[in-house]
Amino acid sequence: MGESRFLMCPPTHYDVDYVINPWMEGNVQRSAKAVAAAQWQQLQGVLAGHARVEQLEPQPGLPDLVFTANAGVVVDDRVVLARFFHPERQGEEPWFQSWFESQGYRVTLLPADLPFEGAGDALLDRSGGWLWAGYGFRSELAAHPLLAEALAVEVLSLRLMDERFYHLDTCFCPLSDGTLLYYPPAFDFYSNRLIETRVPAAKRLVVGETDALAFACNAVNVGRSVILNQASAGLRHQLETRGYDVVETPLSEFLKAGGAAKCLTLRLDEPRLVTATATGAAGLQKAAGAGLKTGAGLGLQGPPPSSLSRTIRLQGHLLDSGLINRALDRIVEGGGSFQVLDFALGQQRHSTSSAAIRVSAPDGEVMADLMARLIALGALATADGECDAALAEVLQDGVAPDDFYVSTIYPTEVRLAGRWHRVGRQRMDGALVLRPDVPESTAMAQVECRLLRDLRAGEQVVVGVEGLRTLRPEPAREGREARQADFSFMAAGVSSERRVELVVEQMAWEWRRIRDRGGKVVVVAGPVVIHTGGGAHLAQLVREGYVQALLGGNAIAVHDVEQALMGTSLGVDLQQGLAVHGGHRHHLKAINTIRRCGSLAAAVEQGVLNQGIFHACVRRGVPFVLAGSIRDDGPLPDTEMDLIRAQAAYAQALEGAEMVLMLSSMLHSIGVGNMTPAGVKLVCVDINPAVVTKLSDRGSLESVGVVTDVGLFLSLLVRQLDRLNQAWQEAEISTPQAA
Ligand SMILES: NC(=O)c1ccc[n+]([C@@H]2O[C@H](COP(=O)([O-])OP(=O)(O)OC[C@H]3O[C@@H](n4cnc5c(N)ncnc54)[C@H](O)[C@@H]3O)[C@@H](O)[C@H]2O)c1
Repeated sequence: MGESRFLMCPPTHYDVDYVINPWMEGNVQRSAKAVAAAQWQQLQGVLAGHARVEQLEPQPGLPDLVFTANAGVVVDDRVVLARFFHPERQGEEPWFQSWFESQGYRVTLLPADLPFEGAGDALLDRSGGWLWAGYGFRSELAAHPLLAEALAVEVLSLRLMDERFYHLDTCFCPLSDGTLLYYPPAFDFYSNRLIETRVPAAKRLVVGETDALAFACNAVNVGRSVILNQASAGLRHQLETRGYDVVETPLSEFLKAGGAAKCLTLRLDEPRLVTATATGAAGLQKAAGAGLKTGAGLGLQGPPPSSLSRTIRLQGHLLDSGLINRALDRIVEGGGSFQVLDFALGQQRHSTSSAAIRVSAPDGEVMADLMARLIALGALATADGECDAALAEVLQDGVAPDDFYVSTIYPTEVRLAGRWHRVGRQRMDGALVLRPDVPESTAMAQVECRLLRDLRAGEQVVVGVEGLRTLRPEPAREGREARQADFSFMAAGVSSERRVELVVEQMAWEWRRIRDRGGKVVVVAGPVVIHTGGGAHLAQLVREGYVQALLGGNAIAVHDVEQALMGTSLGVDLQQGLAVHGGHRHHLKAINTIRRCGSLAAAVEQGVLNQGIFHACVRRGVPFVLAGSIRDDGPLPDTEMDLIRAQAAYAQALEGAEMVLMLSSMLHSIGVGNMTPAGVKLVCVDINPAVVTKLSDRGSLESVGVVTDVGLFLSLLVRQLDRLNQAWQEAEISTPQAA
């Protein structure tokens, strides 16, 4: 008998009585009791050869009491008791509590509504001294700072991603001497980085999926012995090479409930190593106060609890707009966890609801990212009253202060000296800069979005997340219904081929209305428009006054000119779809011709360029911007090869646009998407669903994606506009903008 102590609970009442993890599915009432009892006895016997085994009395109606690892986490004489996530297991809590109290442990109880499942999700590192804590399925991240405080250990949070490995101890096992037995795919990218930062490569023993699914990581390590359900020959060899003695003891009956050796035992005398980093919450707070940094230099170690949790407030039609769900999803997807602190549901049909939500993040970096996502949804970073935004000075031209707030496409307001100011020149990926030169009395914005390269030393920039809000106007119930008839009905997601015609109908209707009221529509187009035979349609749209600015690269213009001069596009005859003899030279001849003329406009004036999209633009006075790229042949004299100037010209062309039609150019469409504020209707047409999703998934009601051939789309659109024209004429409605 060794000196270690373990707690086990005989499987007298064990069975799979309910389904609370994927392992239990299909196994309800299917465990063979006699086999389970024999397997448990064998495990207990093996363990008793290395340690003292204490027994907890089994209780009827609590089949999972056998999994004592979930009782709590023990460090020295302190235990933080579990708060079970599922009601099915909550009945176990008082039994574990009274056992620990009877043994003289100092017991800490977490708040009743804060799930934490004991040593199933909290494992001490055997050489580092810190506590690895899992979250994502059963335990809440918000419990981690409380563990740090109660146990005076440093807590490193790991996010679990695979439902089959729902507790940390199912896929992660720190061994004596600092070796870590674990299954990396069970964790998110960030957690894997954290593990790799803390555990040297030589100490990381990665198990494959087969061993992981046989619960090889759910092992009990006492001294040099590793007791587990099953290990492949390869894993056994690796462990033995490292000096461990592998003891297999079959636990198939418990695997049916998603548990094995480690789940069935709780180490009662886990010694805490005190190391330079195992300072605990209080120590960390002091270290932070003294400007010290602990940990491995990535800023990944647990900062003081206060910076791990923040409370935000959400206001609006939270339920029927789905806002609350979106906010909670964003927190979880972003690597955080949440607790809804209060939720005041609007009493009247028109009244809004309000919720305070505590957001927890494993570190400041993740928290900053979460807060940015939530602010973009309309959340206020300060739940209890409003406060001013924090400012910091730009110290170097073109470089923002660390922690600057990164702007989004949504209309934003900044609170300064108690007043909210609307941000001007809204766009994404900028910094918010104060404009002290703008007098308060004018309507001009006193804070504006500015690209990093345009910042100047001495300017004040918004930092952090306080005193910021984005305005996501939510129509009231009737408004929402009315909008179904409007453009935004299409925002339900990326269109399938079947929906293309419907989208074209709605788009044509909207476009026609914008044109007739003198509004502005900008088209972004790539050369595929020409290859697919859409050039003539786009030219017609320009001629008929539907396009107020055209943005693209060198290629669209070169291909358009080639087609206008020689009837080919990259040497392919578009009428016949056949490559023309010597056609590959057409492309360069086209460039050469325009270069000789001096510009596209000059080519039109000289009578050299007589048709096509750019001919129509020049004739109709529609401005166009061609932004250069590394792929460009020539380039044409019109192509702006200075990218900063090209971006500025794009931004200028987009000012005041009501709608942007993006046609088959990933490069230019994404560029335009980044500089367009919410509220502008975006229609993205591309054959690749991934491109469409990227561009239309801005979370704004006004974007719609169409997955289809761009030539086909343009022909349908032109036909639909012609039909509308006819109908309009029959109804004798005036069309002042039509050519
Ligand atoms: N000769 C040249 O000078 C030359 C030639 C090609 C590209 N370029 C330049 O390279 C840059 C990128 O070019 P880009 O915008 O063409 O490429 P891109 O890869 O950014 O975008 C092309 C898009 O078209 C989509 N697409 C392909 N077939 C389609 C179809 N039938 N219907 C609808 N969508 C379809 C693709 O999925 C892709 O998203 C531009 O600046 C361009 O001017 C220059």
